[in-house]
Amino acid sequence: MNILITGGSGYVGSRLIYKLLKETNLKIVNYDISLFGDKHLPKSNRFIYCKEDIADSRKFEKAILENNIDTVLHLACISNDPTYELNSELSKKINYDCFEDLVKISKKNKVKKFIYASTCSVYGVSDSPNVTETNELKPITDYNKYKALCEPILKKYLDDDFTGIIIRPATVCGFSEKMRFDLTVNILTNFAYNKGYIKVFGGKQCRPNLHIDDMCELYKILILTQIKEFNGEIFNVGTENLKIIEIAEKVKSVIEKMYNKKDIEIRVEESADIRSYMINSDKIKKLLGFKFKKTVIDAIEDLCKAFDNKLIVDSFSDQWSNLKVLSKKEIYK
Ligand SMILES: NC(=O)c1ccc[n+]([C@@H]2O[C@H](COP(=O)([O-])OP(=O)(O)OC[C@H]3O[C@@H](n4cnc5c(N)ncnc54)[C@H](O)[C@@H]3O)[C@@H](O)[C@H]2O)c1
Repeated sequence: MNILITGGSGYVGSRLIYKLLKETNLKIVNYDISLFGDKHLPKSNRFIYCKEDIADSRKFEKAILENNIDTVLHLACISNDPTYELNSELSKKINYDCFEDLVKISKKNKVKKFIYASTCSVYGVSDSPNVTETNELKPITDYNKYKALCEPILKKYLDDDFTGIIIRPATVCGFSEKMRFDLTVNILTNFAYNKGYIKVFGGKQCRPNLHIDDMCELYKILILTQIKEFNGEIFNVGTENLKIIEIAEKVKSVIEKMYNKKDIEIRVEESADIRSYMINSDKIKKLLGFKFKKTVIDAIEDLCKAFDNKLIVDSFSDQWSNLKVLSKKEIYK
């Protein structure tokens, strides 16, 4: 079976590619323009790297055809609010305008399965403790809005021969071969481990979290199994709904315990960020039988071990923040 992953050089895609090479015998094509670098990617005769733009439909079609692709996992995008806003016109082109072509080209060229990584931030602000897939979407940013608007486009093209599934992941955390230190658990752990204090903005906002290894395990299952029964279904994917201050407290307690310390300070500062929501992921557990195996505490411990083992160097350098990397590119200035 041959799989094409768009955005495979990123935080989730990189971890997934290492996992798939180790645990399966799939041929993997990574289709990624490499906005954030690619030196971390593996070398393997089962791994092909197309350093191309998803907005270039001709190149995308060539990659599908030349590699006889059965499954597309679509991860590529400008993947958070602040980076989206740097050049909203270009971001819309990448996150939304080219999406229909990716789907059409895949279908036309006999791809059997298309998996789309949406986001659970499509729900926007909600007080409900139990936001399920049927809840109304109230996206409050363009990043959220256009991630959501791709979902019905994919559904429109699905049939018995071209199946698809939509995943709405929570905020991912934990170690990846390509780190992102602009995600909550990762930022807080970086500060606590390397600076001895944590800065929390606001703190009362509630967010769902997801360990990166559970995210990658789910993608592996979806790639390897027949999904006809769940064709067109949307799944929330997250484990712990936590207030930011609760995440900070977990980070503090894990690090104090691991390193026999008592002095990790939590500094709370004001924030204008009002995004707050709690998701319910029972559907993926019930329908797909998916079992979440890892927790936020596991993610914090994994990151600490990666720091101990010098797997992450220079963790405050700009290269680990999508916003800082893109801000330096001429097209985003
Ligand atoms: N990381 C999270 O917490 C999280 C949560 C919910 C949903 N998601 C979704 O999961 C997906 C992966 O997230 P991530 O954290 O790995 O993102 P990331 O920003 O680390 O990776 C995105 C990748 O897409 C590539 N890309 C961007 N524009 C491209 C283009 N025009 N052509 C080809 N490649 C392009 C980038 O080079 C990068 O390697 C995204 O779609 C994101 O919206 C992520």
